[in-house]
Amino acid sequence: MTAGGRPVEPAQPDVLTPLLRDRESVLVYDRSHVLGPEALRAILEAARWSPSAGNSQPWGFLVGLRGDDTHAAMVETLSSANRVWAPSASAVIFTLHQVATDEDHEIAYSDYAMFDLGQAVAHITVQARSMGLQVRQFGGFDHRAAAERFAVPPHWAVTTGIALGLPAGPDGDAEMPEWLRARARLPRSRLPLEAFVHSGKFGHAADFLG
Ligand SMILES: Cc1cc2nc3c(=O)[nH]c(=O)nc-3n(C[C@H](O)[C@H](O)[C@H](O)COP(=O)(O)O)c2cc1C
Repeated sequence: MTAGGRPVEPAQPDVLTPLLRDRESVLVYDRSHVLGPEALRAILEAARWSPSAGNSQPWGFLVGLRGDDTHAAMVETLSSANRVWAPSASAVIFTLHQVATDEDHEIAYSDYAMFDLGQAVAHITVQARSMGLQVRQFGGFDHRAAAERFAVPPHWAVTTGIALGLPAGPDGDAEMPEWLRARARLPRSRLPLEAFVHSGKFGHAADFLG
């Protein structure tokens, strides 16, 4: 298997904590699972307590729960492919990061805002895994329409989406089209460490990799 002409490695190794080893971007969710307020709050606390440049905390989250108006409005902005699977997750979250000062210059701008948001989402992912849940992040939605629909101020950028829920059981979800179920079964793979861990100079694989 290759990516961009470079070999890739299948399957995540046992050295990873199970929270990371068993994480994957799930496409098929249990439509009957309801995410309660306590669980949702715990997941968002994970974002709240993630690190950020100067403790700027330049993130925001719009949360829609399957069945509520926010969720319905979010679904309308999804790309056609994402609309097939994402609505079946228990929650859809749109992430935001701060891109500029507000009109009163009260909010500090951080050059690292998108980085910090990404890290907060990683914390959400791990917290969700610890609770038996999974997420799939997505970029495929109309960001502009989302910003308009949810009255996002100009100094905030709608950034990504997160589908969050309980993975469907072994029989999957009979309502999902076969192309999607086939995609969900594809093996996961990654570039080897040698492709991106350098020492001495960029492009020189670190010696400790052996
Ligand atoms: C910023 C971002 C955007 C993504 N956009 C989409 C998307 O629009 N649709 C989708 O099905 N998956 C999307 N994904 C999921 C990736 O395809 C997935 O993370 C990648 O294939 C690796 O699989 P894994 O997370 O199971 O290891 C996105 C992931 C990220 C982080």
